[in-house]
Amino acid sequence: MKKAGTSSKKLSLIDIVSISDFSRSGIEEVLKKAALMEKMSPGKKRRLLAGKIVATLFFEPSTRTRLSFESAAQNLGASVISSPVDEASSSKKGESVSDTVRMVQNYADIIVIRHYIEGAARRAAEVSTKPVINAGDGSNQHPTQTMLDLYTIKKEIGKIDGLKIGMMGDLKYGRTVHSLAKALSLFENVTIFCIAPESLQMPQGLIEEIKPRVKVFQTSSIEEFLGQLDVLYVTRIQKERFPDPLEYERLKDVYIVSKKTIEKNKKVKIMHPLPRVNEISTDVDDMTQAIYFKQAANGVPVREAILEMLSKARK
Ligand code: NCD
Repeated sequence: MKKAGTSSKKLSLIDIVSISDFSRSGIEEVLKKAALMEKMSPGKKRRLLAGKIVATLFFEPSTRTRLSFESAAQNLGASVISSPVDEASSSKKGESVSDTVRMVQNYADIIVIRHYIEGAARRAAEVSTKPVINAGDGSNQHPTQTMLDLYTIKKEIGKIDGLKIGMMGDLKYGRTVHSLAKALSLFENVTIFCIAPESLQMPQGLIEEIKPRVKVFQTSSIEEFLGQLDVLYVTRIQKERFPDPLEYERLKDVYIVSKKTIEKNKKVKIMHPLPRVNEISTDVDDMTQAIYFKQAANGVPVREAILEMLSKARK
């Protein structure tokens, strides 16, 4: 598949399914547009998607992703329709993703979908006549989270090239780190430290894929590389993806980042896609290194940028 943004022409997005569909310049165009969105007056913004309808179809729980998409859509003047997580929608009756999308494309101009099945967003994009945005498909991908993660890094540190980034926690099932690691491999001279117990390490296939372009180290210890990191991206242990609940119980509190942990590296920025359970103690929240709430706030301008770009898509 042709990567979005490989040509010198302006990026033309059709769907956003996987970060692998993007080149570096494609990502940078989204980040640039997000910065514009942050500065644009509310009045001007409200005209960008006036008269359009955005549908949010969430087949898994969500707070930040769903609400920031809905807030972004409304800031741009669009109306939002959405299906309840499970109970009242037809997926509960056994309807396939493709059938649901075939209906919703008649009701909306852009479809945002989160699903527990890996590949569901790709399938939705294939059948839909309207642009589809993947808001997370199982353990696979979460490309718009990656855009806001990169936006946050760029805003807080000023660059992405050359950074040393630790990813910690559930690297096996965490879709945010899968997308982020792939995206970071498009930048220059980045080093990724995968910090996880062996059974929750980054999938080997993903490491093989990015290794030609990025340095990767794997460890189970927080301390080993902490002193060198520019960013520590902490993730939740993904309880809902564990086939064995006892295994979850054994691993759930394997890492807890506290004030004391971070005092060992004054410059490290602490990120987290949220929700947090126990993996970052609340005494970190007020430290200048903690940028996870700012990261969540950046979801709005980044999703405004994405919706605006997709509103021009021709399928
Ligand atoms: C993440 C997700 O849903 O993958 N949350 C989010 O979108 N901000 C991470 C998680 O649920 O742990």
